[in-house]
This record gives sequence, C-alpha cells and structure tokens, in this order.
Amino acid sequence: MSTQHQGRDAFASNLGAFAATVGSAVGLGNIWKFPYLTGSNGGAAFVLTYLLAVALVGVPVMAVEHVIGRRMRLDAVRAYGRVVPGQRFWSAIGWAGLLSALLIMAFYTDVAGWVFAYVLKSALALGPGRPLGPETFGALAGGTWEPIGWQVGVLALTATIIAAGVSKGIEKVTKTLMPLLFALLLVCDVRALTLPGAASGVAYLFRPDLGKISGTVLLSALGLAFFKLSLGMGTMTTYGSYLPEETRIVPNATRVALADTLVSLLAGLAIFPAVFAFGGKPAGGPGLLFNTIPLVFSRMPGGGLFTVLFFVLAAVATIGAMVSLVEVPVAWLVEKGHVARPAAAFLTAGAMLALGLLATLSQSPVLGDVRIFGKGFFDLFDFLSSNVLLPVGGVAIAVVGGWLVSRKEFLAELDKGYAAEPWYDRIVYAFIRYVTPGLILLILLNSLGVIRLA
Ligand code: TRP
Repeated sequence: MSTQHQGRDAFASNLGAFAATVGSAVGLGNIWKFPYLTGSNGGAAFVLTYLLAVALVGVPVMAVEHVIGRRMRLDAVRAYGRVVPGQRFWSAIGWAGLLSALLIMAFYTDVAGWVFAYVLKSALALGPGRPLGPETFGALAGGTWEPIGWQVGVLALTATIIAAGVSKGIEKVTKTLMPLLFALLLVCDVRALTLPGAASGVAYLFRPDLGKISGTVLLSALGLAFFKLSLGMGTMTTYGSYLPEETRIVPNATRVALADTLVSLLAGLAIFPAVFAFGGKPAGGPGLLFNTIPLVFSRMPGGGLFTVLFFVLAAVATIGAMVSLVEVPVAWLVEKGHVARPAAAFLTAGAMLALGLLATLSQSPVLGDVRIFGKGFFDLFDFLSSNVLLPVGGVAIAVVGGWLVSRKEFLAELDKGYAAEPWYDRIVYAFIRYVTPGLILLILLNSLGVIRLA
C-alpha cells in the first residue's frame, strides 16, 4: 500500500469526523426505512436480527473501510484498485460502489422529496382547509410533476452543499444539524410514549417472537445494516480517507453505530406506540411514515405542530446522508478526472436525476406498469442496492481487509492513535477475517436457496 495525501481536504478534528460519519449514517434509513421494514417484517424479531447484524457485520465492515480509506487517502475506486499490490481488479469494489450510489440516490431523492414536500404540506395544514390524510401521500407519491419538482430541488440542494467542499460543506452542516435531530426526536418520543396504549407499541418493538425470523427477515436486516451505516460501496472508505491520523477507528465506528441505532430506535418509539394507540397498521409499507405520523399526531392536542416538527427533523436527517452518497462519485471525478468540485457535484446530481426520474415515475401512471424481475424501478433499485450490491461489496471489502492486505499493515492502521495496542483491535480483526464475511455469505446463500437457515 502507498500513502499519498498532499493537498487533500479532510475533516478538521476527531469530533468533526465523528459528526460527519454519523451524518452520513443517519438519514431516511432511520426514520423511513427502519420503521417500515420493522412493521412489514413482524416487529421485534426483525429488530433483534438487525441489532445483531449491526454489531457482528456493520461495525467490523466500517472499521475495514476506515482503515483502507485512511491508509490510501484516495477516492474509493483508486483506493481498492491499489490497496492489494498487483491486484488492480479490486477497483471493481469502487466501481460497483459508484453504481450503488446512483441506484440508492435514485429512490432516496424521491423519498427525500416527499419529506421536504411534507414539511410544507404539514405547515399548510396548520391553517384551515388543507388537511393531511392518506390521500395526500397517494397523490404526492403517485403524481408526476409534483414529486419530480421536489426531487430536482433536493438534488440541487445536495449538489450545492457538496460544491462547498469537505470541511466547510459536509462537516459544518452535519455538526450543526445532528444535535438538533436528537433533541427533536426526543420531543416526539415523549409525545408518543405518554399516549394511552403506548405499551403495545413498545412491546411490538422489543418483545421478539423468534419464530418470525425467516430468510426474508435475515436478508432485509442485513441489507438494512449496510444501508443504515452507509457500508459496502465506498462511502465509508471515502470518509475514512478524510479521517484525522489520530482518530481511533474501532471506538469511532462503535460510537457511530450506537448513535445511529439509537436514532432508529427513537424513531421506532415515536411511531409504533402511536400506531398502536390509534389502531393503525404497522405493516403500512413505504407510506408508513407519511400516512401514520400526520394521522396519529392529528388526534392529539398540539399534534399539527408535532407533525411539522417531525418532518423538519426527517428533512434534516436526509441532508447529511445524501451529501455522503453524492460525495463518492464526486471524490472520484475530482481526484481522478481532475474535474472542478462544483462541476463534479452538478454532473453527479444530473446522473442521479436521470435514474431518479425512473424511480419516481415508476409510481406514477407514466411508468407504473413497467416491471423488471417483477418489480418497478423504485423497488428494483432499492432491492438491488441494499440486498445485493452492498452485502456482496461487504464480503469483498472484508476479504480484502482481512486476508489480502498484510496483517501487519492492517493492524498498524487500526492501532493508530494509541500509545499501546488496545485489546479489542485483535478481536475486531478476527471478526473481519472469519465471522463477518462468513455471516454475510450464509445469509446470501440462504436467500439464494443454496442452504437452509431460516
Ligand atoms: N445511511 C443513510 C441512511 O440510513 C443512507 C446512506 C448514505 C447510504 N450514504 C450511504 C447507504 C452509502 C448506503 C451507502 O439513510
């Protein structure tokens, strides 16, 4: 491995690096995807599987990505292309990552657009004559020009932030917004948990029925762990390349995973008690957030205001995540292609819009009937990225870090920032070699029907 980082932008401090990493992890995954997947996969059994996936797969893969990123100080394509001497083909991990970034952003910006639209719609609903109901969501998501307009707006906002650079753009925005997000979520939780009947929502999240663990549950939980922690496609490798030398990789990754999981659980605790208290359906699908939150809050005193608050919070959370997704192709265009940063940001956003239109229109009459492998574009992009590309990328990343990079070099990077080597770095390394890739492979093989786990 060779190190080169002259003249590269980077995160200015340990805390800044932590905040930016949390900023990438926390997003629609916590507030939209975690609750809706929990609801459609039967509740606590899914939550438990997901927590195990974060601990046994998520944290180790994040450590590898940060080690390789910081060691190489390059964009993801070149980092994987050069990290194993004589094996340039590992750059395929970076290329697959660029593809994943485009696929994820295609549906992510559609949903982010709904969130921004709901900030406005819920604020307007405070006045007379414009109530928020299930038909509001149906009309928005199933429309043509309205969702496209929001999607274009969201992409333009993200590209503008990216154009401003790493420490001034990404770091500053996330550092300010993350504490606000925690505070706002806590307010929503207090509101939901003091409802009569809130307890069944809490039990739904935390009392697992192990019989509900199926192959679908395993694959969805694994896919969510990758999606949630921005793993398997180079985002965390790219962020690793901006990490200060003194950042301790394992504790930092652990804290990021804990903070991110806390946000998901807090979001679940805001949604499910309310769903149960008001007799809603937990298995409400992708519309769960949009249909449930306004409905349940509307039946509480002061609920209109809480609805606005909730969507402001969701909008805040999407920004850091989108920035980190756009950053992967941008870092590559800037460093390898020598494209100016602002041009790279808008070029990437343009490519994302092209695919994004397919995702958005697949829910409108325009492309509503188009099916590929039985799925519309929105579902196809989601499934392909979370359940195929990211886990496969994760195995490759674990194999590169655990087996192909020399043990000495890997541990030297992992142990940076300590006077003496900490006890847990060896344990994490053993996970990276044996446990993590093994678990991912088992779940993938189970889904393909090659073996039978659940
Ligand atoms: N983690 C973000 C979320 O939960 C989404 C995200 C941002 C992401 N960057 C990523 C997912 C990279 C996969 C890969 O909303």
